[in-house]
Amino acid sequence: MNTDKKKIIVAVDGYSSSGKSTMARRLAKATGYRYIDSGAMYRAVTLYALDNNLIDDAGNIDKVALTRALDTIDIDFRIMNDGSQHTTLNGNDVEREIRSLRVSDNVSPIAAIAEVRHALVAKQQAMGRSKGIVMDGRDIGTTVFPSAELKLFVNAPAETRARRRFLEMTEKGNHVSYEDVLANVVNRDRIDETREESPLRRADDAIDLDNSQMSVDQQDAWLLDRFNETIAKL
Ligand code: DC
Repeated sequence: MNTDKKKIIVAVDGYSSSGKSTMARRLAKATGYRYIDSGAMYRAVTLYALDNNLIDDAGNIDKVALTRALDTIDIDFRIMNDGSQHTTLNGNDVEREIRSLRVSDNVSPIAAIAEVRHALVAKQQAMGRSKGIVMDGRDIGTTVFPSAELKLFVNAPAETRARRRFLEMTEKGNHVSYEDVLANVVNRDRIDETREESPLRRADDAIDLDNSQMSVDQQDAWLLDRFNETIAKL
């Protein structure tokens, strides 16, 4: 049997802080697939724009200059000794910086620019050319890989997602209020759902997962079942 023929693309989409990255990363590890965090790519472009003064203090973006620079922005992923994956921007490890509040606060408008999306979608499609990939994001099952063999759409109530994010942030020593985190989650949902260019939308053929009542182990088992079912049907 040619096992290459059995490789698939897994698209994991969903709302912010729904746990989709953890889920996608764990599924990739369990199946030996490559994991791609597409959100990290939008974050890396945002970092580039900030570091090159293409976003002013009021948040205005120099779209013309950014669009011109897109060809020169090289984004990749590096596997570290501990197995974790770090994002690189023009060869530099930017994993920590892209998770900063400075980047989080500016990424939504950058991700809404059509030229940025076209460039990153093309890169993402190239990464999936030989399949064997799990990619998470907002538009993976609808725009990047509309014919992905397995599409998952992850959701949980905004309050559950905000509680998770709040715990994560306070554990890291960030002093934030639950109310502020909830407001940020609700606001990001609104921006992601209402932007003109590839808004967050569930693909018609996606399988829904509300993981609010699931443990990580239960979620892993559920995912592997869906994966094996999909492979068996090929
Ligand atoms: O998943 P995340 O929070 O790291 O995503 C960062 C931002 O990028 C967020 O504003 C949504 C956006 N994004 C997107 O528009 N399309 C994707 N495929 C992935 C992320």
